[in-house]
Amino acid sequence: MPVQVLQPKAEGLSAFPPLRSVSAPRLAHNLPAQVSSFVGREAELAVVRALVAGSRLVTLCGAGGAGKTRLGLQVAAGLADGARDGVWFADLAPLGDPSLIGATVADVLGVRLEPGRPVPEALVEAVGERRLLVLLDNCEHVLDACAKLADALLRSCPNLALLATSREPLGIDGERVYRVPSMDTPGDGDDAAAIQASEAVRLLEDRAAGQGAPLAGDEETTAVAGRICRRLDGIPLVIELAAARLRVMPAVELEARLDERFALLTGGSRAALPRQQTLRAMMDWSWDLLTGAERVVLARLSVFAGGFGLAAAEAVVACQDVPAAQVLAHLGALVDKSLVQFGDTGTGPGRYRLLETVRQYAAGRLDAMGPAADAARVAHQDYRARDYLAAEKGLRREIAEAGQPTAVADPAASAASAAAMTVLTPREREVLNLVARGLSNSSIARQLFLSEHTVHRHLSNIFRKLNFSSRAAAAAWGVRTGLA
Ligand SMILES: Nc1ncnc2c1ncn2[C@@H]1O[C@H](COP(=O)(O)OP(=O)(O)OP(=O)(O)O)[C@@H](O)[C@H]1O
Ligand SMILES: [Mg+2]
Repeated sequence: MPVQVLQPKAEGLSAFPPLRSVSAPRLAHNLPAQVSSFVGREAELAVVRALVAGSRLVTLCGAGGAGKTRLGLQVAAGLADGARDGVWFADLAPLGDPSLIGATVADVLGVRLEPGRPVPEALVEAVGERRLLVLLDNCEHVLDACAKLADALLRSCPNLALLATSREPLGIDGERVYRVPSMDTPGDGDDAAAIQASEAVRLLEDRAAGQGAPLAGDEETTAVAGRICRRLDGIPLVIELAAARLRVMPAVELEARLDERFALLTGGSRAALPRQQTLRAMMDWSWDLLTGAERVVLARLSVFAGGFGLAAAEAVVACQDVPAAQVLAHLGALVDKSLVQFGDTGTGPGRYRLLETVRQYAAGRLDAMGPAADAARVAHQDYRARDYLAAEKGLRREIAEAGQPTAVADPAASAASAAAMTVLTPREREVLNLVARGLSNSSIARQLFLSEHTVHRHLSNIFRKLNFSSRAAAAAWGVRTGLA
């Protein structure tokens, strides 16, 4: 909710700095006033402010609707305190023609252009030594032209700083890239207080209330809100689209329909840009900026419901249009374009993942590719079968090498493992027990009457809770502690 702040003016109070506010008219800026409240992001704001203080080009990258523009504006507002010669917002989103970027920036800065004179030259002369911060917003569709202009200006204007937002980095010298993460979402099993404290749920609640459809504060509704935010990957724009639907359906029904999210989330603000009015438009914007080969790769990657490694990606993606040797390069490009998430596991092999919204969208695109869709799914099944066989073989060997456990000899180890066990749910303990006996996921699924997907989910939880990096390590631990 907007708050009105009054600043007294009197003799002796002149040492007060001007108030930091986007709507304070005296300051040299053109930042658009925000009509909705800003939620959370304290840690991200601190990091970006520090980056901007230490670098003349910072790019906020991230998935569509992740909140790059809003974060950029919030940082810029904090800098519009008179310490600089101005903080200027250049909205590049509506530009269809990359050659108009220079003119757009000139217009924002009030620089008069003369016919026949190159625009960058006029900009360099006008900016000179002034201490300006320019926010170049939404560069992804005019990336090359943007990178060239930014490079030219930064080289010739020593006190100019640029803060860019883009789904992909500009890729020029001196650029510091900050990946804007999704909003923090509640964890599986969090209590109502923790769910309500998470950023994503706070945004959903705020926007639902703003639509005149406040969420009931009871435990059940809170749990549903938490699950909705998690399934929407904590992406602010998607959460806002979901909140808009709460005007016409209860939260439980919204949750039940999230598998059809593209048909469901279509009611964005009329004031928003067209690409932010529906979930499909948000994704189309990114899809349209991909090369043909990147589209094939992204569509085929949608067969992975969870994370995947490079070898799995190569096995599934390689096809007539994309040779196996090029998969890594395309995967890297998709990570740069914020469509694939890369999780550096440190010592273990890297893992990749598609956000659920991206996966569902890409699966739709794969379906539309006809026979290629079947080929990708068959390649995925084959890869999984080969992977299971290899994993089971390795596991048996490792268990044999570990020797048949007698009893847990070390009481301290026994106490530690008993304590570790308490963090697992009874179902997770059952799954770990069967893993330690050398069963594959499909055998565990059959034995416990679960889907393979559910077994996979339990295993991921076990890995996370007990910090295992491989199935073999989990199994060997189960054997050692006498679980199996
Ligand atoms: N921290 C936040 N608090 C409140 N609302 C937010 C926050 N972050 C983002 N939003 C809202 O979510 C929506 C999407 O945010 P924003 O436009 O900043 O995303 P973006 O990453 O720039 O999207 P795009 O990739 O389409 O440019 C906007 O309506 C914005 O106001
Ligand atoms: Mg944006």
